[in-house]
Amino acid sequence: MTQQIFAANWKMNHGPTAAAGIVSELRRRWRRFDVEMIIFPPALSFASARAAAGDPSPFKFGVQNVYYAERGAFTGENSAPMAKDAGADYVLVGHSERRHVFGETDEDTAKKCAMVERSGMTPLLCVGETLDQRNRGETAGVVTRQLRAGLAQLDQVELTTSVIAYEPVWAIGTGRNATPEDAAETHGVLRSVLRDLVGDRAAEVRILYGGSVTPANVEQILGAADVDGVLVGGASLEPDSWLSICSA
Ligand code: 13P
Repeated sequence: MTQQIFAANWKMNHGPTAAAGIVSELRRRWRRFDVEMIIFPPALSFASARAAAGDPSPFKFGVQNVYYAERGAFTGENSAPMAKDAGADYVLVGHSERRHVFGETDEDTAKKCAMVERSGMTPLLCVGETLDQRNRGETAGVVTRQLRAGLAQLDQVELTTSVIAYEPVWAIGTGRNATPEDAAETHGVLRSVLRDLVGDRAAEVRILYGGSVTPANVEQILGAADVDGVLVGGASLEPDSWLSICSA
Protein backbone atom coordinates (compact mmCIF):
# COMPACT_ATOMS: atom_id res chain seq x y z
CA MET A 1 0.00 0.00 0.00
CA THR A 2 1.50 3.36 -0.99
CA GLN A 3 1.15 6.32 1.35
CA GLN A 4 -1.49 8.86 0.32
CA ILE A 5 -0.33 12.39 -0.45
CA PHE A 6 -2.15 15.58 0.56
CA ALA A 7 -0.44 18.46 -1.28
CA ALA A 8 -1.18 22.16 -0.74
CA ASN A 9 -0.31 24.43 -3.67
CA TRP A 10 -0.51 27.95 -2.30
CA LYS A 11 0.18 29.46 -5.74
CA MET A 12 0.89 33.23 -5.41
CA ASN A 13 -0.64 33.53 -1.92
CA HIS A 14 0.87 34.04 1.56
CA GLY A 15 4.02 36.15 1.94
CA PRO A 16 6.79 35.12 4.35
CA THR A 17 5.05 36.38 7.50
CA ALA A 18 1.64 34.84 6.76
CA ALA A 19 3.24 31.59 5.57
CA ALA A 20 5.18 31.17 8.81
CA GLY A 21 2.07 31.81 10.89
CA ILE A 22 0.01 29.25 8.97
CA VAL A 23 2.70 26.57 9.08
CA SER A 24 3.11 27.06 12.85
CA GLU A 25 -0.61 26.58 13.28
CA LEU A 26 -0.62 23.49 11.05
CA ARG A 27 2.24 22.05 13.05
CA ARG A 28 0.40 22.65 16.33
CA ARG A 29 -2.79 21.05 15.07
CA TRP A 30 -1.34 18.22 12.91
CA ARG A 31 -2.36 14.71 14.08
CA ARG A 32 -2.05 12.48 11.00
CA PHE A 33 1.23 10.70 10.51
CA ASP A 34 -0.02 7.96 8.18
CA VAL A 35 -0.18 10.29 5.15
CA GLU A 36 2.40 12.46 3.44
CA MET A 37 1.53 16.14 3.60
CA ILE A 38 3.40 18.52 1.31
CA ILE A 39 3.21 22.33 1.30
CA PHE A 40 4.20 24.32 -1.79
CA PRO A 41 4.63 27.96 -0.65
CA PRO A 42 5.67 30.73 -3.05
CA ALA A 43 9.48 30.78 -3.46
CA LEU A 44 9.93 33.95 -1.39
CA SER A 45 7.99 32.41 1.50
CA PHE A 46 9.71 29.04 1.35
CA ALA A 47 12.42 29.70 3.96
CA SER A 48 10.11 31.12 6.60
CA ALA A 49 7.50 28.40 6.03
CA ARG A 50 10.13 25.66 6.24
CA ALA A 51 11.62 27.16 9.41
CA ALA A 52 8.21 27.40 11.08
CA ALA A 53 7.67 23.66 10.58
CA GLY A 54 10.55 22.89 12.98
CA ASP A 55 13.09 20.10 12.85
CA PRO A 56 12.17 17.40 12.25
CA SER A 57 9.19 18.70 10.31
CA PRO A 58 6.01 16.61 10.29
CA PHE A 59 5.41 17.77 6.70
CA LYS A 60 7.38 17.86 3.49
CA PHE A 61 7.92 21.02 1.45
CA GLY A 62 8.17 21.75 -2.22
CA VAL A 63 8.59 24.65 -4.61
CA GLN A 64 6.09 25.51 -7.32
CA ASN A 65 8.57 25.80 -10.18
CA VAL A 66 12.27 25.71 -11.07
CA TYR A 67 14.21 26.47 -14.22
CA TYR A 68 15.94 23.54 -15.91
CA ALA A 69 19.45 25.03 -16.02
CA GLU A 70 21.69 24.55 -13.01
CA ARG A 71 22.83 28.18 -12.75
CA GLY A 72 23.53 31.23 -14.86
CA ALA A 73 22.09 34.35 -16.40
CA PHE A 74 18.37 33.63 -16.06
CA THR A 75 17.01 36.68 -14.28
CA GLY A 76 14.05 35.92 -12.07
CA GLU A 77 14.41 32.14 -12.10
CA ASN A 78 15.33 29.66 -9.34
CA SER A 79 17.32 26.48 -9.96
CA ALA A 80 16.64 22.96 -8.71
CA PRO A 81 19.88 22.81 -6.69
CA MET A 82 18.82 26.05 -4.95
CA ALA A 83 15.44 24.50 -4.09
CA LYS A 84 17.19 21.44 -2.69
CA ASP A 85 19.54 23.61 -0.65
CA ALA A 86 16.55 25.53 0.75
CA GLY A 87 15.03 22.26 2.01
CA ALA A 88 12.61 21.26 -0.76
CA ASP A 89 11.72 17.59 -1.27
CA TYR A 90 9.35 18.11 -4.20
CA VAL A 91 8.98 20.42 -7.21
CA LEU A 92 5.76 21.01 -9.14
CA VAL A 93 6.41 20.63 -12.86
CA GLY A 94 4.04 21.49 -15.69
CA HIS A 95 1.25 22.91 -13.55
CA SER A 96 -1.55 24.08 -15.82
CA GLU A 97 -0.88 27.72 -14.90
CA ARG A 98 2.77 27.27 -15.94
CA ARG A 99 1.65 25.69 -19.22
CA HIS A 100 -1.23 28.01 -20.06
CA VAL A 101 -0.23 31.35 -18.50
CA PHE A 102 3.55 31.13 -18.91
CA GLY A 103 3.83 28.97 -22.02
CA GLU A 104 5.68 25.98 -20.54
CA THR A 105 6.03 23.21 -23.13
CA ASP A 106 6.17 19.42 -22.85
CA GLU A 107 9.87 19.64 -23.60
CA ASP A 108 10.37 22.12 -20.74
CA THR A 109 8.61 19.70 -18.38
CA ALA A 110 10.92 16.86 -19.46
CA LYS A 111 14.04 18.93 -18.79
CA LYS A 112 12.68 20.16 -15.48
CA CYS A 113 11.74 16.66 -14.26
CA ALA A 114 15.23 15.41 -15.14
CA MET A 115 16.93 18.34 -13.37
CA VAL A 116 14.73 17.91 -10.29
CA GLU A 117 15.63 14.21 -10.04
CA ARG A 118 19.33 14.88 -10.57
CA SER A 119 19.23 17.47 -7.82
CA GLY A 120 17.91 14.92 -5.33
CA MET A 121 14.23 15.87 -5.23
CA THR A 122 11.01 14.40 -6.58
CA PRO A 123 9.08 15.98 -9.46
CA LEU A 124 5.30 16.23 -9.10
CA LEU A 125 4.34 16.31 -12.76
CA CYS A 126 0.93 17.83 -13.52
CA VAL A 127 -1.11 16.90 -16.57
CA GLY A 128 -4.62 17.82 -17.66
CA GLU A 129 -6.83 18.74 -20.57
CA THR A 130 -8.60 22.03 -21.31
CA LEU A 131 -12.40 22.20 -21.62
CA ASP A 132 -12.17 22.38 -25.43
CA GLN A 133 -9.96 19.31 -25.52
CA ARG A 134 -12.38 17.48 -23.24
CA ASN A 135 -15.36 18.44 -25.38
CA ARG A 136 -13.55 17.12 -28.45
CA GLY A 137 -12.96 13.78 -26.70
CA GLU A 138 -9.20 14.32 -26.51
CA THR A 139 -8.66 13.87 -22.75
CA ALA A 140 -6.90 10.48 -22.89
CA GLY A 141 -4.69 11.57 -25.80
CA VAL A 142 -3.67 14.85 -24.16
CA VAL A 143 -2.78 13.42 -20.76
CA THR A 144 -0.95 10.48 -22.35
CA ARG A 145 1.16 12.86 -24.44
CA GLN A 146 1.92 15.12 -21.46
CA LEU A 147 2.81 12.19 -19.22
CA ARG A 148 5.09 10.42 -21.71
CA ALA A 149 6.79 13.68 -22.67
CA GLY A 150 7.32 14.88 -19.10
CA LEU A 151 8.83 11.59 -17.95
CA ALA A 152 10.89 11.01 -21.12
CA GLN A 153 14.30 11.69 -19.58
CA LEU A 154 13.85 9.66 -16.37
CA ASP A 155 15.29 6.20 -15.70
CA GLN A 156 13.26 3.30 -14.28
CA VAL A 157 13.93 4.12 -10.61
CA GLU A 158 13.14 7.82 -11.13
CA LEU A 159 9.95 6.87 -12.95
CA THR A 160 8.61 4.80 -10.08
CA THR A 161 9.36 7.42 -7.42
CA SER A 162 8.00 10.42 -9.30
CA VAL A 163 4.49 11.66 -8.49
CA ILE A 164 1.80 12.56 -11.02
CA ALA A 165 -1.17 14.89 -10.64
CA TYR A 166 -4.18 14.88 -12.92
CA GLU A 167 -5.60 18.39 -12.90
CA PRO A 168 -8.25 19.02 -15.54
CA VAL A 169 -7.78 22.68 -16.51
CA TRP A 170 -11.56 23.28 -16.48
CA ALA A 171 -11.73 22.17 -12.83
CA ILE A 172 -8.97 24.42 -11.48
CA GLY A 173 -10.28 27.30 -9.40
CA THR A 174 -13.71 27.02 -11.01
CA GLY A 175 -15.63 25.25 -8.26
CA ARG A 176 -16.41 22.54 -10.81
CA ASN A 177 -14.61 19.36 -9.77
CA ALA A 178 -14.33 16.20 -11.85
CA THR A 179 -16.73 13.48 -10.76
CA PRO A 180 -15.15 10.42 -9.12
CA GLU A 181 -15.97 8.55 -12.34
CA ASP A 182 -14.15 11.17 -14.50
CA ALA A 183 -11.16 11.02 -12.18
CA ALA A 184 -11.09 7.21 -12.10
CA GLU A 185 -11.26 7.04 -15.88
CA THR A 186 -8.36 9.41 -16.52
CA HIS A 187 -6.29 8.05 -13.63
CA GLY A 188 -6.78 4.61 -15.22
CA VAL A 189 -5.38 5.95 -18.50
CA LEU A 190 -2.36 7.37 -16.66
CA ARG A 191 -1.80 4.11 -14.76
CA SER A 192 -1.81 2.14 -17.98
CA VAL A 193 0.76 4.48 -19.56
CA LEU A 194 2.90 3.98 -16.44
CA ARG A 195 2.46 0.20 -16.74
CA ASP A 196 3.80 0.49 -20.24
CA LEU A 197 6.85 2.34 -18.90
CA VAL A 198 7.67 0.41 -15.70
CA GLY A 199 5.50 -2.71 -15.68
CA ASP A 200 4.02 -3.84 -12.35
CA ARG A 201 5.85 -1.11 -10.48
CA ALA A 202 3.30 1.32 -11.95
CA ALA A 203 1.17 0.45 -8.92
CA GLU A 204 3.72 2.24 -6.69
CA VAL A 205 3.47 5.57 -8.54
CA ARG A 206 1.15 7.96 -6.77
CA ILE A 207 -1.38 9.74 -8.96
CA LEU A 208 -3.07 12.72 -7.30
CA TYR A 209 -6.26 14.48 -8.36
CA GLY A 210 -6.43 18.27 -8.36
CA GLY A 211 -9.14 20.79 -9.29
CA SER A 212 -11.70 22.34 -6.91
CA VAL A 213 -11.09 19.80 -4.13
CA THR A 214 -12.89 20.91 -0.94
CA PRO A 215 -13.69 19.42 2.47
CA ALA A 216 -17.12 18.57 1.02
CA ASN A 217 -15.95 16.49 -1.97
CA VAL A 218 -12.56 15.11 -0.91
CA GLU A 219 -13.83 11.79 0.46
CA GLN A 220 -15.68 10.99 -2.73
CA ILE A 221 -12.65 11.83 -4.85
CA LEU A 222 -10.28 9.79 -2.69
CA GLY A 223 -12.69 6.87 -3.01
CA ALA A 224 -12.25 6.75 -6.79
CA ALA A 225 -10.08 4.03 -8.31
CA ASP A 226 -6.41 4.90 -8.83
CA VAL A 227 -6.61 8.16 -6.85
CA ASP A 228 -3.69 8.19 -4.39
CA GLY A 229 -4.10 11.68 -2.97
CA VAL A 230 -5.03 15.26 -3.79
CA LEU A 231 -3.34 18.48 -4.93
CA VAL A 232 -5.31 21.44 -3.62
CA GLY A 233 -5.19 25.17 -4.36
CA GLY A 234 -7.87 27.45 -2.89
CA ALA A 235 -9.05 25.13 -0.11
CA SER A 236 -5.48 24.63 1.15
CA LEU A 237 -4.93 28.30 2.01
CA GLU A 238 -6.57 28.35 5.45
CA PRO A 239 -5.72 25.86 8.22
CA ASP A 240 -9.34 24.93 9.07
CA SER A 241 -10.25 23.95 5.57
CA TRP A 242 -6.89 22.31 4.82
CA LEU A 243 -6.88 20.23 8.00
CA SER A 244 -10.41 19.14 7.33
CA ILE A 245 -9.33 17.93 3.86
CA CYS A 246 -6.32 16.14 5.35
CA SER A 247 -8.51 14.33 7.86
CA ALA A 248 -10.54 12.66 5.06
P1 13P B 1 -8.00 24.71 -6.87
O1 13P B 1 -8.00 23.65 -5.77
O2 13P B 1 -8.03 26.09 -6.36
O3 13P B 1 -9.01 24.39 -7.91
O4 13P B 1 -6.56 24.57 -7.59
C1 13P B 1 -6.12 23.33 -8.00
C2 13P B 1 -4.69 23.42 -8.36
O5 13P B 1 -4.35 23.99 -9.38
C3 13P B 1 -3.70 22.83 -7.46
O6 13P B 1 -2.46 22.77 -8.05
